[in-house]
This record gives sequence, structure tokens and C-alpha cells, in this order.
Amino acid sequence: MKEIVLNHPMVEHKISILRSESTSTKEFRELISELATILCLEALKDAPLKEISIKTPITVCKGKTIDENNYAFVPILRAGMGMVDGVLTLMPNAKIGHIGLYRNEDTLEPVEYYCKLPKNIENKTVILLDPMLATGGSGSAAISMLKKRGVKKIKFLSIIAAPEGLERIQTDHPDVEIYTAYKDLKLNDVGYIVPGLGDAGDRIFGTK
Ligand code: PRP
Ligand code: URA
Repeated sequence: MKEIVLNHPMVEHKISILRSESTSTKEFRELISELATILCLEALKDAPLKEISIKTPITVCKGKTIDENNYAFVPILRAGMGMVDGVLTLMPNAKIGHIGLYRNEDTLEPVEYYCKLPKNIENKTVILLDPMLATGGSGSAAISMLKKRGVKKIKFLSIIAAPEGLERIQTDHPDVEIYTAYKDLKLNDVGYIVPGLGDAGDRIFGTK
């Protein structure tokens, strides 16, 4: 199963506040960050563990750790930036790359404008961040950019996904796991998610 939808009352609660047009920029940003932490926790369920020895104040015991160096977070600019703090609370030492894409609002096609990735990205699991998966054009293009640079393992975290976007990613990139907090109903005729939350970038950065 490559599509994982979080199913939790706390997630539904937070998504409901996020959707409301009366939610402030500050609260919107905080909720995006919290949901990113929750999604990332789910996405790291299969993280390989290494056994270590620990000296506690009482005794010596065995413990397990994750090698954070094996991971990179890559937000799709600009709205994906809103998820970075949230994922870093879980894995503060992971490296961060940036992919710049925006959606041409007439054609709905993604336009690429930036790509800067950490060294040895081809050996890392990349956790791609974008709160909105609408037509899937931006997500699919970002995954292609990563694959072109040798990345082999990609997990895509989105907060709200439309069925059309989920289908597009699964068709174009069946190897990529998609984690989403909520699967919405559909896209409207201008490519916005219904019921959705509007323009995530504008709401995170207060630009409208
Ligand atoms: C939004 C969103 C996704 C994209 C989703 O970004 O953050 O990147 O649209 O739409 P798609 O699945 O149909 O491609 P936008 O293009 O508005 O850019 P921004 O983040 O800079 O505001
Ligand atoms: N991008 C957004 O920010 N919101 C949508 O509903 C669709 C694309």
C-alpha cells in the first residue's frame, strides 16, 4: 500500500481548524507544522535501527538509534517550507534540500525555478514536503527532479490530498509512498482542492 492516510481524531480536529477561513496566519502556520510532525512520525515507522550500548545512572543496557544522516527533508517551495520546522522537531540533524516549483494557474502545469540538494542525496531517503497535493503535477515533477539526481527512496508527505493527485503520483511514480493527513473529495474547475483550505502558500505566509 503506497497511499497512507492518517486516521486519527486529533488529526481531524486540527484539519478542521486549518480549513476554516477565520483561522489566523499564526495558527495556520502552527497547525501545518504540527501536522507535519505527525505525518513524519508515521513515515518513519520503518526507519532502520542500530543497536547501541547505553550507560544509564543505574546500569548498562542496550538501546536503538536512527542514523539521521540517512535522511533529507526536501520542501517544495514555497508552501512546503511551512512543514520544515515540524519535521525537524523529530529529526533535527537531517539535511535539507529545496525544490522551487510553482503551478501556472492557467495551465496548472508546474514551472521549475530552483533545485539545491544536500551532498550524497542519492544515498539518502528523501522526505518530500508539500501541504497540498492537487492535480499532482508539482509533486510528480519534484519526484522526477529527485530521481534525475539519483535518489532511490522517496516518501511524499502532504497534509491534504485530492484523489486526482494521489492517482497521478501513483501512476507516474508507483515506488513512492504518499502519506497524507486527509484525503479530500475532488478538485474544482480551477484546480483547487474541495473542500480544501484555499491557497496553502498564501495562508502560511500571509500574502493574500
Ligand atoms: C501549491 C502547492 C503545491 C501545488 C499543488 O503551490 O503548495 O506545490 O500548488 O498543486 P498541483 O498538485 O496541482 O501541482 P503553488 O504552485 O501555489 O506555489 P506556492 O507554494 O509558491 O504558493
Ligand atoms: N494549491 C493550493 O495551495 N491549494 C489548492 O487547493 C490547490 C493547489
